[in-house]
Amino acid sequence: MKSMFPQAVVFPLALFSASLFAEPPTLQASNETQRDHFVSALLKKMTLDEKIGQLRLISVGPDTPKSTIKQMIEKGQIGAIFNTVTRPDIRIMQDQVMQLSRLKIPLFFAYDVVHGQRTIFPIPLGLAASWDTQAVTTVGRISALEAAQDGLNMTWAPMVDVSHEPRWGRSSEGFGEDTYLTSMMGQTMVKAMQGNDPADRNSVMTSVKHFALYGAVEGGREYNSVDMSPQQMFQHYLPPYQTALQAGSGGVMVSLNSINGVPATANRWLLTDLLRHQWHFKGITVSDHGAIKELINHGVASDPADAVRIAIKAGIDMSMSDQYYSQYLPGLVKSGAVTAAEVDNAARHVLNVKYDMGLFRDAYSHLGPVGSDPKDTNAEDRLHRAQAREVAAQSLVLLKNWHHILPLKKQGTLALIGPLADSQRDIMGSWSAAGVAKQSVTLLQGMREAVAGKATLLYAKGSNITDNAKVQAFLNLYEPAVEVDKRSPQQLRDEAISVAKKADVVVMAVGESQGMAHEASSRSDIRLPKAQRDLIDAIKATGKPIVLVLMNGRALDITQQDQQAEGILETWFSGTEGGHAISDVLFGDANPSGKLPVTFPRSVGQLPLYYNHLPTGRPYDFTHPNKYTSHYFDIDNSPLYPFGFGLSYTEFTLSPISLSSSMLTAKGQMVASVTVTNSGKLAGGTIVQLYLQDPVASISRPVKELKAFEKVQLQPGESKRVQFTLSKNDLSFWNQQMKWVVEPGQFVVMIGTDSVHTEVKSFTYQ
Ligand code: BGC
Repeated sequence: MKSMFPQAVVFPLALFSASLFAEPPTLQASNETQRDHFVSALLKKMTLDEKIGQLRLISVGPDTPKSTIKQMIEKGQIGAIFNTVTRPDIRIMQDQVMQLSRLKIPLFFAYDVVHGQRTIFPIPLGLAASWDTQAVTTVGRISALEAAQDGLNMTWAPMVDVSHEPRWGRSSEGFGEDTYLTSMMGQTMVKAMQGNDPADRNSVMTSVKHFALYGAVEGGREYNSVDMSPQQMFQHYLPPYQTALQAGSGGVMVSLNSINGVPATANRWLLTDLLRHQWHFKGITVSDHGAIKELINHGVASDPADAVRIAIKAGIDMSMSDQYYSQYLPGLVKSGAVTAAEVDNAARHVLNVKYDMGLFRDAYSHLGPVGSDPKDTNAEDRLHRAQAREVAAQSLVLLKNWHHILPLKKQGTLALIGPLADSQRDIMGSWSAAGVAKQSVTLLQGMREAVAGKATLLYAKGSNITDNAKVQAFLNLYEPAVEVDKRSPQQLRDEAISVAKKADVVVMAVGESQGMAHEASSRSDIRLPKAQRDLIDAIKATGKPIVLVLMNGRALDITQQDQQAEGILETWFSGTEGGHAISDVLFGDANPSGKLPVTFPRSVGQLPLYYNHLPTGRPYDFTHPNKYTSHYFDIDNSPLYPFGFGLSYTEFTLSPISLSSSMLTAKGQMVASVTVTNSGKLAGGTIVQLYLQDPVASISRPVKELKAFEKVQLQPGESKRVQFTLSKNDLSFWNQQMKWVVEPGQFVVMIGTDSVHTEVKSFTYQ
């Protein structure tokens, strides 16, 4: 197994220094030399104002209308544009650069293409639930192709913020709680989106975000601070960023949080010592929306000029959205507070990525010739529906299937109830880029098509997403995002009850609206909203069997509903083809294989709850309960559903683990293998997961850590040998002195199809 962790390198604790890249950056050395010459020559021709202009990243909008943008382009005051997403619009601006500006330095165009551009795939949390790097490669390639064909050069993705916090609304945008899974997903996304070369016609450059540790905001409260030990940081939170950069990501977006008291945007250790000097990153760093200005609120800058001085010295190249760099850098350079070399350095990084995007060869590389723009940007034939349906089906996680209630038969009378059953908007999830809601398939549409001519499907909305007027107002703050049915809760429920009573089985589409799992959508209560809980209670009272279809962007507390429903299918926000994909799984046309990328807690009070926690001195043992042990007296320590969990319509059995040797040495490798058998009656796939534990070390090590996984697809009765190769790096960790070490002794290897039920074997490292 190829490890994402670096070779042993000494870490002076005070500096938090990190290792060198294990692999060279993707750009070939000769290209890099050519690029450096080109950029150096260009910088010599540029005035200070033109260099500062390159550092400005701007969004066209009411504050900066197109006419203002035109004047700014003419004067060389803009480096890049984000949020403009059609070829005709982009072409106008690039034309202005080429026709009006002195040096004709092309703009680059960026957008949040996080899980699709026109075709919307499952949210990243759902993609992670597929544990399928091939599926994620498909998503990355298609997203890049659609984005590039819209004229874009860069995406603000992937987001690789590891998070143990379902209260945080942006859990939806990341790949879950695990370092290794997040690293693999992030790396796959970068490679897929950038392709062989980010300059290619159908590729875009990625910007890994949010650097760093944004997923660890205290209490899951958005934009909050982060305080973390260096061991935790380097072992669990930083590897996904480093892995994405090793995969060649040309950009880094800097996070909005502070890290041990220093905002990331002001953090020279993070952006210069670590990122540039130790990780040798040569691309651009971009501040997040308004982050430079926010240094004043953070209490580290006294005024706007001070904020600019701190940000550029820390290592922020491009300033997103605010005008501060343009306004204050000229004066700061004049007074000597910022050096010309510091501005040159930032401008060089911007020009470097423009070079790597191929823009100096052809400013229109992603636009094509005049007249080639699509006639209808949202034309149906620009979508990739078949791939979206397939990937979405792979992202679904079957949590409960009591007495094999699923798959459903396409016969008799079925009821579909719930506020998310027919919402085209919500199913796309947060950051659905240029996706168009009316092109997405709801569950109601999907089920109707599936049963047409075979069974009767009844439908009732049953409740609003929420009856809480304050939450409704929050969700509809900027646009009417959540439609509020004017009927009373009782009227809505009554209709649903009468529909349920006529049905053999009731499918309930419940969860969160798109805006509940987004940026700035932290929740203190991660249960289903009360209106939906009441609806489920009412349907339960009819005595009809219930299959819950959850649509949501975070781990939820569904403890109560878990006791009420016979079947539970976690579908996240599954995208343009979600309704078809969910329907495929509900009716058994696809067999679910997804596994949870996050732990589902029993209650918000258990948070943070994650599988790879440290042992305590007083572990709780439920078979011998002891008061003075680490637990809550009012709830179990265990999760409702553990990390890595997910059922299938078939059964898989694992043989005991066999090891190629009982001992691993520093230069050697060891193969751990199991035979997986499909012992059920249907073809299906599962994810074989390998965890390691270092039970005795100089510092406490996690009770288990994911180190490898493989998806296997088997026919009924078929078996497959799954082999994982382990080496020293897989056993290494950051010790108390921040050295990357492996300590000799016993290790435990666990292999299973979730993180709890595993085969176990020990070996020695010497
Ligand atoms: C978000 C970023 C996003 C940017 C541009 C910010 O509010 O934090 O993730 O890329 O906006 O849309």
